[in-house]
Amino acid sequence: MKIARFSRVGFILAAAGSAVGLGNIWKFPYITGEYGGGAFVFVYLLTVLLIGFSIMIAEMLIGYIGRKDAVSSFENIAPTHKHLWKYGGFQSLAGLFVMIFYSVVIGWIFHYIVTSLSSLPSSVQEAETTFNAMIHTDIATQLFYHSLAFIWITYVLTKGIKGGIEKMNMFLMPALMIILAGMFIYALSLDAFPKAVNFMFAADWSKINSEAFVVAVGHAFFTLSLGMGAIMTYAASMEKNSNIVKAAFWVVFLDTIIAIVAGLMLFTFLYQYGAGPAKGPGLVFISLPAAFYEMGILGNIFAVLFFIALAFAGLTSSVSLVEPMVQYFIDRFSWSRFKSSILMGLFFYLIGIIALLSNIDGYQELLTWGDKNFFDWVDYVTSAIMLPIGGLIMAVFVGFILDKRKVESLMKPQLGFAFETWYFSLRYITPIAMFVVMLNLIGIF
Ligand code: PHE
Repeated sequence: MKIARFSRVGFILAAAGSAVGLGNIWKFPYITGEYGGGAFVFVYLLTVLLIGFSIMIAEMLIGYIGRKDAVSSFENIAPTHKHLWKYGGFQSLAGLFVMIFYSVVIGWIFHYIVTSLSSLPSSVQEAETTFNAMIHTDIATQLFYHSLAFIWITYVLTKGIKGGIEKMNMFLMPALMIILAGMFIYALSLDAFPKAVNFMFAADWSKINSEAFVVAVGHAFFTLSLGMGAIMTYAASMEKNSNIVKAAFWVVFLDTIIAIVAGLMLFTFLYQYGAGPAKGPGLVFISLPAAFYEMGILGNIFAVLFFIALAFAGLTSSVSLVEPMVQYFIDRFSWSRFKSSILMGLFFYLIGIIALLSNIDGYQELLTWGDKNFFDWVDYVTSAIMLPIGGLIMAVFVGFILDKRKVESLMKPQLGFAFETWYFSLRYITPIAMFVVMLNLIGIF
């Protein structure tokens, strides 16, 4: 059987499609708002540069040499303790777990595309009431759109690397970039633009505390799709003789630029028409629609386009969150792609329904343990525990377990004089940073 491989551009767009997701357009602006702007953005950018880029290269390298699903890749290229290291591949499970709530959020976005066509909330209060009514009382609407997300994502996965994943990314990624660029150019013409720049880039260090620091580091990982087997699984289908460093550069660059463009654009709209840099997860679902309302008919058009772009970002990330487990069952259990895609799809779909119900009044009590409901627990366990462990495993694996000569022979020609810096970052900077993130997130300090 001929193995399907990404084309060069196809790989970069698919990996960038994975990285550019709800994390960039939904989460990044609201956590930037929550943690006070500039200083937070600075820590995030520094992490992306010092740690994120190194791990991106490392993860691509493991996939590229391993050539199989993440579990097999770890096993194949571990010179010692093969059996121990194959568990490194279990990062892939984290991706499938993320999908449990990711798919529900994509459902909300689909719903907002439809409603923004006809009406927008005339005030933040109204927007808040509408949003809360949807997530706390409206099972049918959420279920309908969650099902749509499931069907779309699963369908693409059944079509495989070339005919599904690459094809979708080749179309949706440029479309997403064009929409954002168009809206950004409009934002540039508004009086409030300098205010947004100031908010995002003037660092007020008094606003940064250990929590903000840790959130910035964690977010850098999440937004780059690291530590969940996604990039690794895609890299297993890279063309031979690919330049990993170049590909990693493009993915990190696109992801960062899109987060910043989205952030500047949203904050400009919020300063110009809304209530300033709103905080919290409701930013794009509550404050933003109310700001769009103030723009009149143009606001409706912008709102629809914005939610379409957000949906595209979410869908391209979704397939990469599920693909590692799909590939795992194909490679290790000889399942057909069809069977593997459908079963993995059903997994996140059905458990996603529980996540959806855990926000609904009446079910909430039943599905809440401690201070979090099921939806929040899934988010917390994946981003606070599984993701940093994944990053740590990757850095230690390439930094200490893989034969340095092998790594050097492949990466030195591509990295040149930066090779030692990269290697040092993997061996020391990243493990320490991940460890600190984990300790903080599980509440040890
Ligand atoms: N990077 C994606 C985002 O920003 C999420 C993601 C994480 C996708 C890990 C794949 C793997 O939303």
